[in-house]
Amino acid sequence: MKKLFGVIGDPISHSMSPAMHNDLFAAYSLDAHYQAFHISRENLTDAIIGFRAMGIAGFNVTVPHKEAIIPLLDELDPLAEAIGAVNTVVNQTGKLIGYNTDGSGYVKGLLNQKQSIKDKKVLIVGAGGAARAIYFTIAKEGPELLDICNRTPKRAEQIINDCPFRVPARVLSRPDAEGSLETYDLIVQTTSIGMHPEIGQSPLSVHKLKPGAFVSDIIYNPLETKLLTEAAEKGAGIQNGIDMFVYQGALAFEMWTGIGPDIERMRHKVLNQLG
Ligand code: ATR
Repeated sequence: MKKLFGVIGDPISHSMSPAMHNDLFAAYSLDAHYQAFHISRENLTDAIIGFRAMGIAGFNVTVPHKEAIIPLLDELDPLAEAIGAVNTVVNQTGKLIGYNTDGSGYVKGLLNQKQSIKDKKVLIVGAGGAARAIYFTIAKEGPELLDICNRTPKRAEQIINDCPFRVPARVLSRPDAEGSLETYDLIVQTTSIGMHPEIGQSPLSVHKLKPGAFVSDIIYNPLETKLLTEAAEKGAGIQNGIDMFVYQGALAFEMWTGIGPDIERMRHKVLNQLG
């Protein structure tokens, strides 16, 4: 029987995950289908009951359900538990197990760009759900410094306090961060600022960077945010959010099928979808 996979979220119509995963199912001749499900907050519990009844093989979880899904699952991976958010669920013989591949997807994408984290000085911009997943996963790799700059400092403090991996860390205001950008080997932008349609916005003005610095933005629409353009002008290496999106999907696909998929094929498919 055809295996069913999917993604739940609200909104969900623009998700590129169905095209990406269905293309992989075809490429590996798997009898499976991946479907986007528009699930509102009030229908989440019923949706999960329905998924169990249908015997769904696995699914992704996106905004606004990444935290709310947790009490509805049977088991939680320790990293997803620490992050407090789930983006991938595996149905293991009737048990729904929650994972978070956002942070590990991000780090894999970074390593793919020949960037390392160990002993590096890193600045994370933002302190939302994406920042939390990325912060914990980067902390695990042993950076020399892992600072956060966020509009609301309390949220940044919370992430540093909750992180299970101890690393030197500070909370910076925007002016403080902008004044000390030369400190960092790696700057990771995790907020929604600069995303389509507000493409003229940036959470940080880039005046001076450390030679050899790398600036990464998790936004992929547009492919180059204002922050990345400014960083490139100052000589930095840059990376958009395509890698993170592709690798988080690749990790989910591998958990569901046991196949480590062709990353270049996935990247190509996603870029096609973006048009
Ligand atoms: P996600 O889970 O996708 O990361 P989120 O939890 O809503 O989304 O977090 C969004 C991030 O973007 C936060 O760091 C938020 O800053 P606050 O913690 O101060 O809310 C940041 N952000 C969003 N809009 C912003 C704006 N106009 N100015 C500054 N920061 C903004």
